[in-house]
Amino acid sequence: MTSFEASFNTLDHTDKALIAIDSDFIEASDLDLALPSGAVLLSQAHVRAEAGDHILLQGPSGSGKSTLFRAFAGIWPFASGHLQRPVDAMFIPQRPYFPNGPLREALAYPHEARQYTDAQLRHALLDAALPGLTGKLDTADAWGQTLSGGEQQRLAIDRVLLKKPKWIFADEATSAVDEATENILYKRLLAHLDSVQGAIISIAHKPTVAAFHDHHWELLAQPDGASARYKLVTKRS
Ligand SMILES: Nc1ncnc2c1ncn2[C@@H]1O[C@H](COP(=O)(O)OP(=O)(O)OP(=O)(O)O)[C@@H](O)[C@H]1O
Ligand SMILES: [Mg+2]
Repeated sequence: MTSFEASFNTLDHTDKALIAIDSDFIEASDLDLALPSGAVLLSQAHVRAEAGDHILLQGPSGSGKSTLFRAFAGIWPFASGHLQRPVDAMFIPQRPYFPNGPLREALAYPHEARQYTDAQLRHALLDAALPGLTGKLDTADAWGQTLSGGEQQRLAIDRVLLKKPKWIFADEATSAVDEATENILYKRLLAHLDSVQGAIISIAHKPTVAAFHDHHWELLAQPDGASARYKLVTKRS
């Protein structure tokens, strides 16, 4: 068992239940985020996002961006305060997971591939610029190993374009692709969001990603002795 699992198992989850998945906006208030060690990443943070927003979340490596997403997903136990988000949301994790087996299953995961027609699956592959894979829906492989890092990121974006959620949380979703491909992928994601009045929160270190966003959230390092290591500040860009 890892130290994280040990801490998770000893935690009283009932005290910490903080997320309601029923709003048509995203809001965190009085949010504290900590590590299993007890170190406090964020204290009393407040942010809100509305349908239609395109938000870029930035901050130094290790500042807690992915951890904030885990809190929004309801899977980070060391959090307290209040979180609200819509149910129709999808997370593109920093390291997407693809089960071994037929490509259609890797694409549809965690849902059953039979929920989607061949045409829908092929269309999603074309949308994320993976035309070479459209003929391979029934090919079984260890996709998480054989696809390049950038191809895996495109396949993870295919999943979103297949499932068409209203809210997208993209954690470094295009960090391994070239700028031209990134352009195509973000344009497709934003076109989809336009059609459903949706919103995106993207984590990215690459400056090129900023062009697709109109709000900026940033985790700023705080001096030693502050109540938390980072402070979450927001601005319109
Ligand atoms: N499961 C875990 N157990 C213990 N510490 C963790 C765990 N997950 C994350 N952390 C720690 O929490 C801190 C924030 O991690 P996080 O992954 O949120 O950073 P990040 O801002 O997304 O960084 P990056 O830009 O490198 O992806 C780091 O110090 C990390 O080591
Ligand atoms: Mg991260």
